[in-house]
Amino acid sequence: MNRTMAGVWKIILLNIFIVSARSSVMKDTKVYSAMGNHDYHPKNQMPPEKNNIYEQTANLWHDWLQAASKETFKIGGYYTEKLLNQTGLRVMVLNTNLYYDQNKLTENIKDPADQFSWADKVLQDAAKNNEKVYIIGHVPPGFFEKKRDKAWFRKEFNKRYIDLIQKHSAIIQGQFFGHHHTDSFRMFYSSKGSPISAMFLTPGVTPWITTLPGVIDGGNNPGIRMFQYDTKTLLIKDIITYYMNLTYSNVAHERWEKEYRLTEAFRVPDASPASMHRVMERISTDKCYLQKYFEFNSVNYDLTECHADCRIDHVCAMREVDFEAYEKCVVKEGGSSTAPVLFTLLLSLMLSLLCLS
Ligand SMILES: *[C@@H]1O[C@H](CO)[C@@H](O)[C@H](O)[C@H]1NC(C)=O
Ligand SMILES: *[C@@H]1O[C@H](CO)[C@@H](O)[C@H](O)[C@H]1NC(C)=O
Repeated sequence: MNRTMAGVWKIILLNIFIVSARSSVMKDTKVYSAMGNHDYHPKNQMPPEKNNIYEQTANLWHDWLQAASKETFKIGGYYTEKLLNQTGLRVMVLNTNLYYDQNKLTENIKDPADQFSWADKVLQDAAKNNEKVYIIGHVPPGFFEKKRDKAWFRKEFNKRYIDLIQKHSAIIQGQFFGHHHTDSFRMFYSSKGSPISAMFLTPGVTPWITTLPGVIDGGNNPGIRMFQYDTKTLLIKDIITYYMNLTYSNVAHERWEKEYRLTEAFRVPDASPASMHRVMERISTDKCYLQKYFEFNSVNYDLTECHADCRIDHVCAMREVDFEAYEKCVVKEGGSSTAPVLFTLLLSLMLSLLCLS
């Protein structure tokens, strides 16, 4: 067996291990699984066509995928189904590894594995059938909030993804992505600037210290998350995140505890796009909320203070998924702190005292 084949089999065996571990604890739970950039060998190089790993993964996930889902999955690693087999509800699982700028196989392709045109058709049909839709994926569009100017998608894919969301926002009730291992979210706006969709970046169960140059102490505690949603409209009503304090668990014993509930921590009625916009505004303008968000961002791992540059990185990543709008945001937010230093110091001292209460 050559190195590539050995790598392919390692990935397949690893996936078999994960699937059986998940199946044994969640026997009666329907699982919608998306491929991550490390679920392939060589990593990130997901092909825009049929291959052995998509094929083997589809077979591995046979309990989770309906027959039609298996077919599209084998071609491009994506699928769609009625959510929990219910009329009016739909889930669309994307393979956004095809858009990752590290993926050399999709560099010069306009629509890798025809996923964009497929997704557009899925959403058009869903609208015709009065369905509400959740979108699931791994690598998100937009920017990494812990490093200035670090995007994942290639530029033209990023643009096309935003177009897709803007076009179909009336029926999209949530977007659920990962990849960062950190806890954050992304806002999508209409061309007139009203909040139309939110993407939730769920922290990783796996603690991971990023190898990206320039990120200081970029680790996370293990986190898992529960979304509460309206079973008819798919409106997300609340988000509860649980975590394991690794420092504590390593010296004492394994312990999972509640980290926070979105509506309590940020005082909003739900997790609708309008509410998430309000959360983002609070984080942007109120130091207490910024610090709270920042600690949640690493799942309570990095408890240092989020200073001015940190604020810009996080706020602009949350607010602007589009490349040009992000650049503008960085310039705008960077130029807005005109208050004299001493006054700012006093103010932040007062605010940090207030945050304690
Ligand atoms: C889904 O619902 C249809 C009826 O609407 C039913 O015939 C089918 O068996 C259900 N499938 C599953 C997997 O529950
Ligand atoms: C995690 O545990 C360590 C060790 O017990 C403790 O010092 C630290 O404050 C804990 N972190 C949080 C966020 O509770």
